Amino acid sequence: MNNIKLKLILQIFLFATWTLGGCEKSVSNDDNTVVVTPTIATLKNKTTTFFVGVATSTPKLAIINYTQLIEREFESITAEYQMKMDVILPTKGIYNWSKADEIVNYSITKGLRVHGHALIWHESTPVWLVDYKGTDAEFELEVKNYITAVVTRYKDKVTSWDVVNEGVADAGGALRNTIFKQRMGDDYMVKCFKWAREADPNCKLFYNDYGFETNISKQNKIFDLILDWKNRNIPINGLGFQMHINYLTSKSQMQDAITKAVGTGLLIHISELDIRMNPNNDISSFTTERSTAQQLKYKEVVSMYNAIPLANKFGITLWGVKDDDSWLLKFHNNYNEWPLLFDSTFKAKKAHTGFLEGIN
Ligand code: XIL
Repeated sequence: MNNIKLKLILQIFLFATWTLGGCEKSVSNDDNTVVVTPTIATLKNKTTTFFVGVATSTPKLAIINYTQLIEREFESITAEYQMKMDVILPTKGIYNWSKADEIVNYSITKGLRVHGHALIWHESTPVWLVDYKGTDAEFELEVKNYITAVVTRYKDKVTSWDVVNEGVADAGGALRNTIFKQRMGDDYMVKCFKWAREADPNCKLFYNDYGFETNISKQNKIFDLILDWKNRNIPINGLGFQMHINYLTSKSQMQDAITKAVGTGLLIHISELDIRMNPNNDISSFTTERSTAQQLKYKEVVSMYNAIPLANKFGITLWGVKDDDSWLLKFHNNYNEWPLLFDSTFKAKKAHTGFLEGIN
């Protein structure tokens, strides 16, 4: 049977399920999860003006429960850590492309886009580069060669990159005092953007950071930098809001920051979304009340994003598939948390319904 016939049969089947299902989007269960009907109530089917992505890693891409869910719901992949510098270039001069290649090849095979994360991040700088004994000029050349090698290898495959991640400090409205700033000077980010652009004239280049929706001194510094870069025609295309938020994060502050970002004319990526439901560690099981609060918060964020002009839209990426995989558990010493759209058994939570409601 050829592909067209197969597709036709599939479409008839999907239409029948949809009709028989009374066009229901989702059905609530007692355990705070929902049943997702594949025809309409998936994230990627519902969003037409921006993509929905997810962060993941290679061992998971060999597990059918993950791949089925990813391929049903998402249209973009970000490597959660395997495309960072200490994985790709752990030893001076010796590139290890295996994990990054696996992620990129899987994505391309499945028709998923890839968002590259992240060329420069102080937290993932390999030890050999942190301890670099050469001159500043030699250090800079190592960084240039790295960016050139990575962006060139994935040219036309990885269509967007976080060029610098978290370059601004949490306090004092200043640049973060990283090894890159120390060795390459205050304009180091500009150099990185230029090298990335030289390696790939078409990919979208992002500055990515966290917490600046509520941290105003950080926010001001980020927008000052962006304004300066735009005035100097530095090749930046987009701004990433990581958005590791919680259910109490101020709506009006998030709205203000997004409105400011719209004003820059850049693409806006909500690049690492998760919503903590136990930031004060006051619950030990996921209550119905918190589950509903999470639904509302996801709806709030998505509808805010959905309302921005088309010219600024890019995508929303979730930082992980299911609750028990979240980086937050380890980061906050294994407390109880349920920040994502799917529970530990791969079932969609009310948060998933909230996401879909945000698009209406
Ligand atoms: C985190 C990953 O989730 C972890 O698995 C890894 O050990 C460390 O990095 N901001 C970022 C992401 O930009 O790259 C971080 O990801 C989470 C915070």
